Amino acid sequence: MCPMTDAAAGSLPTPPAGMERAGVVGGGTMGSGIVHVLLAAGFAVTLVDANEAALERAAGLVASSLDAAATRGKLPVAPGDLLARLVLAVDLADLDCADVVIEAVPERIDLKRSVLASIEAVVRPEALLATNTSSLSLTALGSALVHPERFVGTHFFNPVPAQPLLELVRPPMAAEGAVARARELAVALGKEVVEVTDTPGFATSRLGVALGLEATRMVQEGVATPEDIDRAMVLGYRYPMGPCRLGDLVGHDVRLGIAEYLAEHLGPRFEPPQLLRDMVADGRLGKKTGRGFYEWD
Ligand SMILES: NC(=O)c1ccc[n+]([C@@H]2O[C@H](COP(=O)([O-])OP(=O)(O)OC[C@H]3O[C@@H](n4cnc5c(N)ncnc54)[C@H](O)[C@@H]3O)[C@@H](O)[C@H]2O)c1
Repeated sequence: MCPMTDAAAGSLPTPPAGMERAGVVGGGTMGSGIVHVLLAAGFAVTLVDANEAALERAAGLVASSLDAAATRGKLPVAPGDLLARLVLAVDLADLDCADVVIEAVPERIDLKRSVLASIEAVVRPEALLATNTSSLSLTALGSALVHPERFVGTHFFNPVPAQPLLELVRPPMAAEGAVARARELAVALGKEVVEVTDTPGFATSRLGVALGLEATRMVQEGVATPEDIDRAMVLGYRYPMGPCRLGDLVGHDVRLGIAEYLAEHLGPRFEPPQLLRDMVADGRLGKKTGRGFYEWD
């Protein structure tokens, strides 16, 4: 028997009925951002990470991003009141009362399939299951589940509290009710929804990677420098950031992984250029290693 959630403190928003208790699995960059927006929207949250140190790090990240939001006047109540509604756990069994669980473990299909199957084994039959994958087939992920009809994609963007978009991915086996609940969840979190069918890379990663690969090919062919390619797209097309700089921020290893997956599933137009492979092999992954197309302090 699951206890009632405590009434939200002060003037917190009320989550949609029947979705007051959320679980997040994987407390990295994305999981901690998702925890922030869930808490701020009045959900009680259980964050599960297999790694104790990662859980501690996630708790610190959530606390500092809530503090920053409070300083900007973006929180309806004090961060401490929200953090009181966060439970940290290493065991998936602690998700037994969750109404909705969002998986945000690393982008590896076997890992995600096994984590999703383990989540399904502990949650209630009516719980909604969602993945934050940025490119993987939901059909392939969902085939690990006994009840794939309650499984959808909720693709958040980094940093989650600041990015307005949520790409809602509808796999063919998803029940209409599950898609509707995911949309309700997104709206409760203040996100704008675009809905896409289950195709590799969805809309955002597919187009983003296509542009990034072509920009890398242009550098490889000596068409222009990374700086000038970026300036061209910023000044000419009003992009907020050029594709070379964006690749440095996302990480070229991440971009390479998605490109290889898209090449396998959508064809050779996503074949990574040699320069991308060389940059990854040399450890020029972008900001996280201090070097990519640009030098980072
Ligand atoms: N980083 C981004 O900009 C971004 C943007 C959109 C979507 N995504 C997607 O979000 C997902 C997570 O990405 P991230 O960047 O947050 O990864 P990350 O590496 O920062 O965090 C992953 C977390 O999962 C934990 N974990 C690993 N195995 C686990 C397990 N078996 N059970 C529980 N926890 C486990 C790790 O300890 C780590 O804390 C990926 O699918 C990624 O493609 C990432």
